[in-house]
Amino acid sequence: MHTIKMVDLQRQYNSIKQPIDLAIRSVVEKSDFIMGRAVADFESKLCDYLKVKYAIGCASGTDALQIALMASGIGDGDEVITSPFSFMATTETILLLGAKPIFVDIDSQTYNLDVSQISKQITSKTKAILPVHLYGHPADMKPILSLARAEGLFVIEDTAQAIGAQYFGAFAGTLGNLGCFSFFPSKNLGAFGDAGAIVTNDPKLAEQCKMIRLHGSRTKYRHEILGVNSRLDTIQAAVLNAKLPYLEGWLQKRIAIAKTYNKGFERLPLTTPFCSSNIRHVYHQYSLCTSRRDELATFLKENGVGSAIHYPVPLHRQGAYDKVKDLRTKLPNSERIASEIISLPMFPELTESEIARIISVVCKFYSS
Ligand SMILES: Cc1ncc(COP(=O)(O)O)c(C=O)c1O
Repeated sequence: MHTIKMVDLQRQYNSIKQPIDLAIRSVVEKSDFIMGRAVADFESKLCDYLKVKYAIGCASGTDALQIALMASGIGDGDEVITSPFSFMATTETILLLGAKPIFVDIDSQTYNLDVSQISKQITSKTKAILPVHLYGHPADMKPILSLARAEGLFVIEDTAQAIGAQYFGAFAGTLGNLGCFSFFPSKNLGAFGDAGAIVTNDPKLAEQCKMIRLHGSRTKYRHEILGVNSRLDTIQAAVLNAKLPYLEGWLQKRIAIAKTYNKGFERLPLTTPFCSSNIRHVYHQYSLCTSRRDELATFLKENGVGSAIHYPVPLHRQGAYDKVKDLRTKLPNSERIASEIISLPMFPELTESEIARIISVVCKFYSS
């Protein structure tokens, strides 16, 4: 009996080996390693896919967030309203820039920002709202956007987990001022190393992002603003170009697997992922909520099924933030869900028999 991994990247590579190998070889042959042709190609293809005007490739999803915050002029003393139930990257760049994350608890169904709690956290220091489209389920953007418009705030979307997700027909990441994407290898569209991108419809913000990722420069050795070195690596861009045509098919498979899981678990005393109406959930993670989470994780392991916890510690409880004043607020939904959430294997190449085995192991746990 083989162990079913959370994600099996080798299977995906083997299924599209030829176009990937060709894409990598072509960069090596041209040797245009830094800001080569494949980078501009990918930026243009990403714009076409997401139906957005500008895409700026960068070195990671974390950098995408940092560059977006910098382009929005966020720095010393500013406040950014965001979710405590996410990966650390969502907030570490806010603090590194001298600003402060202001956590709003999550909705207990979608695990995204509880939009009804945002307005009471807005102060004269608030500069932006940074929703996270967690697990591939878009945050409720309409109220976020109207609040931001009324208060003159930026909206920066953390779309690291949600490429291809849709909200009322529009792609997640294209609704706010700036959308930040990660192409970490296990993401729904994954590179062969770190990679990311920022998208926007605003020409001024696009220009700022382009400069910031390149040492604040438009012309070589002329540095107009403070920037960073965060170019999208040409080899990674070539891999992403080769993979992008497959993305929609992979997303459909994720959605189908989630449907099969939902059906398999419908009679069990656990909570399957919620999917709001008028959205397309792209199931970067398929996460169950159960008060018997730790027992279930052990049982899955004993029965050769991988699982993971996204995330065991909400951000406001992270040790790195021990010294940050006033971050230790009580956020009951985030705290409860962090203790009950568990993700099952989810990747497009899972076979029917593996999916059936995962369902049967979970059912066996509840019948024992
Ligand atoms: C929600 C979220 N935000 C940001 C990031 C950071 O992306 P990266 O790992 O590409 O820096 C990730 C990825 O792990 C993520 O899941």
